[in-house]
Amino acid sequence: MNKKVSRYKAHLFICNKTRDDGRKSCGNHADPELKSILKDAVQEKGWKPLVRVSESSCLGVCDAGPNIMIYPQKIWLSDVSTADVPEIIQTLEEILNG
Ligand code: FES
Repeated sequence: MNKKVSRYKAHLFICNKTRDDGRKSCGNHADPELKSILKDAVQEKGWKPLVRVSESSCLGVCDAGPNIMIYPQKIWLSDVSTADVPEIIQTLEEILNG
């Protein structure tokens, strides 16, 4: 095992968990374009070396989803849609300038 400190100042994890058993899950409700829209926005801002956008499986707060968590700031975004992208970018801007 190699142990390192992440090079990213902020790492977004977008839950993409889907279910077919009737329980709520982010992947069944989120816009499938959300990740690519966020990645494009990060790219356009020139933040790619500092901000990573990834998908994750269940983050454990399914009923509040679709969910994104931002680490290491421990910021949880719930009920997220593509309409929230400007606010998410603003949040990242505050992190990077903070
Ligand atoms: S399915 Fe997204 S938090 Fe559980």
